Amino acid sequence: MRPKMAITGANGYLASLAQLYNRDAFDFVRVSRADVDYTRPVEVARHFERLDFDLCLHMAADATTAHCEGDPEGTHKVNAESAIAIAEVCRARGKRLLFVSTEQCFNAAPGAAPFSEEDEMASTTRYGQQKIEVDTWMRGHLDDYVVLRLSWMFGLPLPHVTPSPSILGNVLAALRTRTPTAFRVHERRNMTYAQRLADQLPQISELPSGVYHFASQNGRTTYESARLVARKLGATPADIDRLIVPDEETYADRPRDFRLASDKARAAGIELATFEQDVDACLGDFGWK
Ligand SMILES: NC(=O)c1ccc[n+]([C@@H]2O[C@H](COP(=O)([O-])OP(=O)(O)OC[C@H]3O[C@@H](n4cnc5c(N)ncnc54)[C@H](OP(=O)(O)O)[C@@H]3O)[C@@H](O)[C@H]2O)c1
Repeated sequence: MRPKMAITGANGYLASLAQLYNRDAFDFVRVSRADVDYTRPVEVARHFERLDFDLCLHMAADATTAHCEGDPEGTHKVNAESAIAIAEVCRARGKRLLFVSTEQCFNAAPGAAPFSEEDEMASTTRYGQQKIEVDTWMRGHLDDYVVLRLSWMFGLPLPHVTPSPSILGNVLAALRTRTPTAFRVHERRNMTYAQRLADQLPQISELPSGVYHFASQNGRTTYESARLVARKLGATPADIDRLIVPDEETYADRPRDFRLASDKARAAGIELATFEQDVDACLGDFGWK
């Protein structure tokens, strides 16, 4: 019998992709904003107390940094308090919780990248701080959980699967609309093909309890990454120079490097690669070459 996986944010990008490719592995119990109001954590807890599920993949979040800065209290309820309410129900009912965290937990971390699972987290953004709060609570209070800290994910649209903003989407938009678009020179982050997450959800769901970084490795700045993507998409050198332009200002005073080391996930059998290999894999899947 297939395990019943409660999946929150069921209509979101990563959740839709995960469901599309795992119909044989799980019976998904979809939970979305139409079912629960994440600004009311007590109601969220009640919903999960009554829900029939074996394990939960909590993906729902307001992941828009500007929303989190503009409405810190409301988004704290959605991103932190409701997530912890779900975690408390999972603990009381003996259900495993998979929580999707983020590289943004390290955007102001004191150490040096690439960050391991044990490194100290710190974030300048409310979004990152809200994720850190849940991540920390789970590690302190749960015995059976997986916290998956994702790098920036990318992919292309499929029917009923609409990608979140990504390096690939941003470069495609620059090329398609022929709009010069700035990419950060003083930022380094890993970027991962989202299909890897969908394809490996069964293995991820069975990882030993703990925190894992899920990131294909990337030595490039965001600007260099954008130029690479443009080249892979077949843009001419002249178009790349004209349309993919350097943002030299952002973080010039304090360059950001929040790349995640993913040795632990790879040692546990999860396949991750490099950003360039992931771009090739994605474009290959969609017939670009
Ligand atoms: N994409 C990335 O690069 C990335 C990187 C690191 C971590 N993550 C994390 O991965 C998860 C999924 O991300 P995603 O890219 O798939 O994002 P997404 O497409 O925005 O999906 C998130 C879903 O959460 C629900 N949601 C959004 N805002 C909400 C709100 N204010 N109140 C309640 N529910 C809300 C919605 O689903 P329903 O309408 O079904 O409720 C939404 O579709 C998030 O937790 C995000 O923080 C993503």
